[in-house]
Amino acid sequence: MLDMTNRHLICLLLALLCAPPVQASSQLALDKGCYSCHGEPPRRNAPSMAQLATDYARYRSQADAPRRLADKLREGGLFAHIAAHERLSPEECETLMRWIIEGAK
Ligand code: HEC
Repeated sequence: MLDMTNRHLICLLLALLCAPPVQASSQLALDKGCYSCHGEPPRRNAPSMAQLATDYARYRSQADAPRRLADKLREGGLFAHIAAHERLSPEECETLMRWIIEGAK
């Protein structure tokens, strides 16, 4: 009986330790206000998070894609300066790009 309990405890601990980082990333997206424009429905000309994920799935085989996309997003376009993008730290942005490439779940 005690053995069973211990095994359950170990399983629970492992599950907690190995919890997919996507959870943390979706929380980061929430915290950073990404959904105020990329929600459902998205705001004005912003694509929804699901659309972005579909679009970015093509980068899955490219190891350097998260960093490249993050640099590009933080830089902004000539006419598209979005504070929420530019405020991100390089690390945060890379985490979010990786999360979007993996499906933004
Ligand atoms: C104020 C509204 C707004 C907020 C907040 C916002 N975005 Fe955006 N985002 C846009 C718009 C508009 C576009 C499309 C225009 C463009 O590409 O510049 C866009 C485009 C993007 C793209 C595609 C860029 C490309 O060229 O492929 C990504 C990725 C992205 N946003 C991620 C995020 C993330 C992650 C957050 C949260 C940190 C976020 N956005 C917050 C408005 C917003």
